[in-house]
Amino acid sequence: MTASPASPGHAPPDLSVSFADIQLKNPVIAASGTFGYGVEFEDVVHLGKLGGFVVKGLSREPMIGNPPPRLWETAAGMLNAIGLQNIGARAFLEEKLPHLQQLKSVVVFANVFGYTREDYERTIEILNEGEGIAAYELNVSCPNTEHGGLQFGSDPRSLDEVVTTAKRVARRPLIVKLSPNVTSIAQMAYVAQESGADAVSLVNTFVAMAIDAETRRPRIANVTAGLSGPAIKPIALRMVYDAAHAVRIPVIGMGGISTAADVVEFMLAGATAVQIGTASYWDPCATEKIVDELQEWCVAREVVRLADLTGGLMLE
Ligand SMILES: Cc1cc2nc3c(=O)[nH]c(=O)nc-3n(C[C@H](O)[C@H](O)[C@H](O)COP(=O)(O)O)c2cc1C
Repeated sequence: MTASPASPGHAPPDLSVSFADIQLKNPVIAASGTFGYGVEFEDVVHLGKLGGFVVKGLSREPMIGNPPPRLWETAAGMLNAIGLQNIGARAFLEEKLPHLQQLKSVVVFANVFGYTREDYERTIEILNEGEGIAAYELNVSCPNTEHGGLQFGSDPRSLDEVVTTAKRVARRPLIVKLSPNVTSIAQMAYVAQESGADAVSLVNTFVAMAIDAETRRPRIANVTAGLSGPAIKPIALRMVYDAAHAVRIPVIGMGGISTAADVVEFMLAGATAVQIGTASYWDPCATEKIVDELQEWCVAREVVRLADLTGGLMLE
């Protein structure tokens, strides 16, 4: 697919994208866990300039997360074992959502996680009561305590069960966020689609670790942690490419994106929209800057409609 060229001096490029009947002014979405509940970034980022943002993972009850140290910088990446600390779905509705609703033209996605199918069900039921959430993003990368600690997202049958359950109760579109810690991402994307997902997003972090050679101790109290940032970008890109070829539903790509060119790479691989996580840690304005850069990227290359790039990888 070739994007149509822009005529110099004419209308600015159209950066808008849409998926699951949700219209975004551009494909740049701040990723869950790296953008708080959005409100924390209000003074540094013009939230209305972003395509949208995903709030911290929400659970049925508040969670305090893992003990420190929980973050460690690696070569071109970051390890985190925050342990899904959050205020809980009910407090989100009461304390954060009313303010977010007052912000104009801001698209809010709610990330949801649980340890049992019932946790997911109950959390979504609570969030269904709130106004102004565009869609749910289901984080399936937590240990499934019903199945002996195996991640929902790494076992096709568990994934099917949790997505089917979530879809049944969700009153909003359902994005299933896939774990990269699997043998076949294409298979997991397909299972999510067949179980009712309206879109898939990928990737979550890669299970990894770091050791202090001097003390012989792990750098992270939890011992293992999730790796994110530019270090994972080529693998994430390949996974987005594989997933996009396996499903008909839209794919939202992420993993190490830090420039407009990175966004374009993920779109060419098949992503309809993208998320940006770790980049906000070294530059809190990264998401907004990437939107500006995308605009410039399109103007410089005379791309009229950014959405035309999705799936446009040329193999010959
Ligand atoms: C500190 C931190 C916390 C995160 N918390 C969540 C979370 O609560 N739910 C979730 O689905 N993903 C979470 N993620 C994963 C990111 O949303 C994203 O999938 C991943 O970091 C890859 O993108 P990136 O390389 O741009 O950061 C977290 C990532 C980081 C770095």
